[in-house]
Amino acid sequence: MTAAVETRILRYRPRQRLVHWLGVGTVLTLLVTGLALLWPPLSFIAWGGVGPTLHRVGAVLFMALPFAYALLNPRQTRELLVEIFTYDREDWAWLKHFPGYFLGHAAGLPPQGRLNAGQKLHHAGTFLAFITVSLSGLALWFLKGSLGATWLPVMAMLHDVSMLAVTVLFVGHVYFTFVYDALPAMTTGYVSPEYARLEHARWLEELTPAAPAVETPETDEPTEIVVQQA
Ligand code: HEM
Repeated sequence: MTAAVETRILRYRPRQRLVHWLGVGTVLTLLVTGLALLWPPLSFIAWGGVGPTLHRVGAVLFMALPFAYALLNPRQTRELLVEIFTYDREDWAWLKHFPGYFLGHAAGLPPQGRLNAGQKLHHAGTFLAFITVSLSGLALWFLKGSLGATWLPVMAMLHDVSMLAVTVLFVGHVYFTFVYDALPAMTTGYVSPEYARLEHARWLEELTPAAPAVETPETDEPTEIVVQQA
């Protein structure tokens, strides 16, 4: 009797997932405590003065995490930084189909590599907003007294606009995660071949030659074929 063969594809290693979820925690902490600082009707969530301290603690973690990611995943960090700023013809073709993709129709779209063009734009935008929100936040924290009447509002504006960008990108990111059922990539680290074929056909093609040869087992036990990330 032929045994069931399950193929799953490794997409994110535990260290990548760990930093990602710590990042989610810090962004949410910064958003809630930041809104409490910014908008008086929400000042009740400043928890009697703890809010500003939490904002600073969250900010230190938030700024440290990309460095932790780079230390723990040096190769993946290099690849990620190159990928998110590299766009080819297929990326532009994919972006033209974005309205359909937004509505949940990914079938028939130009084949994408490890990241689709939307993910590249999301990650690049998050990276750039990370730099501006961090620099303006540091200026507001340590240079407030010396910024003067011109630079203080500029830094405050830059900080708020950058965090607004992070929030818009965050909402889009979570929306597509659920529309395309991508959550297992960041919870288990693995995706199904169907998901990979639909979203990242070129990536799947690059990985497949490296896949271990599929042997037909003699037993009825399901066999898992794990295709490792390139
Ligand atoms: C509840 C909130 C979130 C959920 C459910 C979520 C979900 C996911 C999933 C499923 C992936 C993998 C997609 C794939 O490539 O197959 C991913 C990757 C990623 N997410 Fe999130 N995410 C969340 C919040 C955030 C936030 C707040 C940020 C940054 C501000 C962020 C930044 C990223 C980045 C940069 C990657 C790529 C990671 C890498 O290449 O190692 N995510 N997320």
